[in-house]
Amino acid sequence: MLAKDIEKVLVTREEINARCKELGEQLAMEYQDKNPLVIGVLKGSINFMADICREMDCYLELDFMDVSSYGNATVSSGEVKILKDLDTNVEGRDLLIVEDIIDSGRTLAYLVDLFKYRKANSVKIVTLLDKPEGRVVDIEADYVGFDVPNEFVVGYGLDYMEQYRNLPYVGVLKPSIYESN
Ligand code: PRP
Ligand code: MN
Ligand code: MG
Repeated sequence: MLAKDIEKVLVTREEINARCKELGEQLAMEYQDKNPLVIGVLKGSINFMADICREMDCYLELDFMDVSSYGNATVSSGEVKILKDLDTNVEGRDLLIVEDIIDSGRTLAYLVDLFKYRKANSVKIVTLLDKPEGRVVDIEADYVGFDVPNEFVVGYGLDYMEQYRNLPYVGVLKPSIYESN
């Protein structure tokens, strides 16, 4: 049903599963004995968060943050607003931010600055997808699942108008879908 809106599949469910296993093993080694706070950025990270943390065989804690960019997409001020803050005090903690995608980099740049200001011991980023051509702010993830081209991608957490987050793979939306809105 949803697949009819997808032009092509970019990353299959099997590729995502395999990559989560690899990344989870690396992360478990890095965070062994550190009890990291693993922070999911709502809502896009939900599926990746659920999968990556189950591949990390080490002690860890989970928390969530919800942020949104001010203004509309065409004239983004680059400012970010907190809709839901963490429940946890991050001072002295090792933080791993989990994202579905880095595009302009604004969301993550804001969060990294915020957590450093709050005196985290370390802040690292794991993202399922990286869209390097979208970058406006100079920021890179420490761990990347897959690079994607500068196209409108949805699925596995990523939405278009809140739809398609439940697709089990990442795909490119048919232009007819967003041209009709
Ligand atoms: C999307 C995506 C990332 C962010 C990436 O979230 O999930 O969090 O944008 O874009 P950036 O690198 O240009 O900041 P969005 O704000 O759409 O919220 P959502 O996760 O609830 O869809
Ligand atoms: Mn998001
Ligand atoms: Mg979104």
